[in-house]
Order: sequence, then structure tokens, then C-alpha cells
Amino acid sequence: MRAWAWAMALGVMAGCGPTPARDFGEALFKDPLLSESQYNAFSCATCHATSDAQAREKMYTGLSLVGAASRPSWWGGYEVRLIDAVNFCYTAFMRGTTPLGDEDPKSRALYEYLVSLSPESTSPAQPLTLVRDIAEVPRGDKNRGAEVYQAACQDCHGERSTGTGRLTSLAPVLPEVSREYGQLFPNATPALVFIEKVRHGRFFGVGGNMPPYSLEALSDEDLGALLSYLGL
Ligand code: HEC
Ligand code: HEC
Repeated sequence: MRAWAWAMALGVMAGCGPTPARDFGEALFKDPLLSESQYNAFSCATCHATSDAQAREKMYTGLSLVGAASRPSWWGGYEVRLIDAVNFCYTAFMRGTTPLGDEDPKSRALYEYLVSLSPESTSPAQPLTLVRDIAEVPRGDKNRGAEVYQAACQDCHGERSTGTGRLTSLAPVLPEVSREYGQLFPNATPALVFIEKVRHGRFFGVGGNMPPYSLEALSDEDLGALLSYLGL
């Protein structure tokens, strides 16, 4: 009788702790192989913080996913189902060809993981301000620019001017790649072409699979500091 009660208690405790689906979801979240594309090097964790500490340490293009499962909408109100918000990233950035289905065990597992990051039953929707019209920004402090480069760009692009440590050779070396902009885009300054890439990512007809930086993810002030650091 006593042994049975003990087993029950253990069962209840196990029920409160991490579940296999949640752990599978966390593994998928950190794994670029979630996408079947051979050209993909990104995992969800490349672009999203999953703790407040991480969100303070780095400047991710995506929002922190703490509380994400309890938000009423996503992508600035554009997506009203969590799985669609995730699939947007999966197809646009990770080059996944077929969106993850509602009943796919991988979707369930990712969902369980996102729920485990969302202790409150409701969290407010987050603003997302994408800059449509590209304009010059005032240049700023180079030392701040170095910090911004490290926190925002270096994981994917590697060290400035060498690319050392970059996530993928598909991410060009910065700022060297902009040397060709004068010839390629004679009607704009290289700085404007550069700003456009940062603000639009792959959208607004730019192409590629780099994510865009919203104003929430990168202020114009920090962008100006970054440009100074990169000599643009
Ligand atoms: C290459 C970068 C990148 C990758 C990889 C990526 N995302 Fe995103 N994600 C973004 C950006 C940028 C946004 C738009 C800004 C925002 O809302 O976070 C976004 C938005 C979201 C949102 C909506 C957040 C909100 O409240 O508006 C969710 C949820 C999300 N991503 C989950 C995921 C999951 C899960 C994966 C992995 C399957 C993933 N993302 C992969 C960059 C990325
Ligand atoms: C999640 C990974 C990732 C992050 C973070 C990232 N980039 Fe990129 N970036 C890429 C990839 C991959 C490419 C090549 C594909 C493309 O053009 O979209 C690229 C391309 C570019 C290009 C265009 C190069 C060309 O072909 O002309 C510029 C400019 C650039 N990135 C600047 C930045 C800056 C500045 C930051 C930081 C504020 C940054 N990137 C952050 C992955 C990233």
C-alpha cells in the first residue's frame, strides 16, 4: 500500500517535470536539421532567445520566445495561429519546403517546448515595426558599433573583415561584400544598400534568407553606430 502511494507520488512529480515531448521540442529548436534543406544552417535558436538572460546578452532578430505560447497573435498581429508564426520562419528563413503540419509530432514537440517557456496563461502580443522605406541614419559611436556587431551580426557573419567563426559560408564577409555595391547598384550609395539589407532581410524584393531587423530588434541609433564601426 505504501509502495503504491510512493509510486503514485513519483508519477505525479514526473507529470510536473519536463516531458519527453518538451525535451524533443527543445532538441528540435536547437537543430538546423529540422529543415531538410542542405542550404540551411539556422536553427530556431540562431534567431530567438529562450531566456531573459539570453535576450539581454545578444541582439537577436527574432523576439524572445519567453511567453510566446501565451500571446494572442504573432508577427505584429499578422499571424493568429502559433504554428503559422513558426512555419513563417521555417519556410522563409530555414528554407523548409513543406510547412510543419498541425499533427506532425515535430510540431507537437515544438509546441510543448514553447509552452514550457510560457508560464503565464496570457502574455501581451509584441510589437513588430518593419522599416518599409529605407533612409540614411546618422552615424554613431564606433565602440558601441563594435558591441552591436558582436551581439547582432557576428554569430552568422563571423568576425569583421575575415568572417572567422561564421555560421555558414553563405553569409558574406562584412563589410567587404559592400565594396561591390557601387558597381552593382549605381543609383544608391553603398551605405543605403547595406541599410536596406539589414532592415529588409529577405523581404521587400531583396531575396536571400537573412532575417530582417525590426526597429524593436535594432534601433536606428545602433544601426548608425554599426555603420561607423564598419566604415560605411
Ligand atoms: C533566421 C532567423 C530566424 C529563424 C531561424 C527562426 N525565426 Fe522565428 N522569427 C524571426 C523573426 C525576424 C521574427 C519576426 C520578429 C518576431 O516577431 O520575433 C520571428 C518570429 C517568430 C515568432 C513570432 C513571435 C511573436 O510574438 O511575434 C515565433 C513564435 C517564432 N518566430 C518561432 C520560431 C521557431 C519555433 C523557429 C524554428 C522552427 C524559428 N522561429 C526560426 C527570425 C527567425
Ligand atoms: C541569422 C543569421 C544572420 C544574421 C543574424 C545576420 N545575417 Fe546578414 N546575412 C546572412 C546570410 C545567410 C546572408 C546571405 C543570404 C542573404 O543575402 O540573405 C546575409 C547577407 C547579408 C548582407 C548582404 C550581402 C550581399 O550579398 O550583398 C549584408 C549587408 C548583411 N547580411 C549584413 C548583416 C548585418 C549588418 C547583420 C547584423 C546587424 C547581419 N547581417 C545579421 C545571415 C545573417
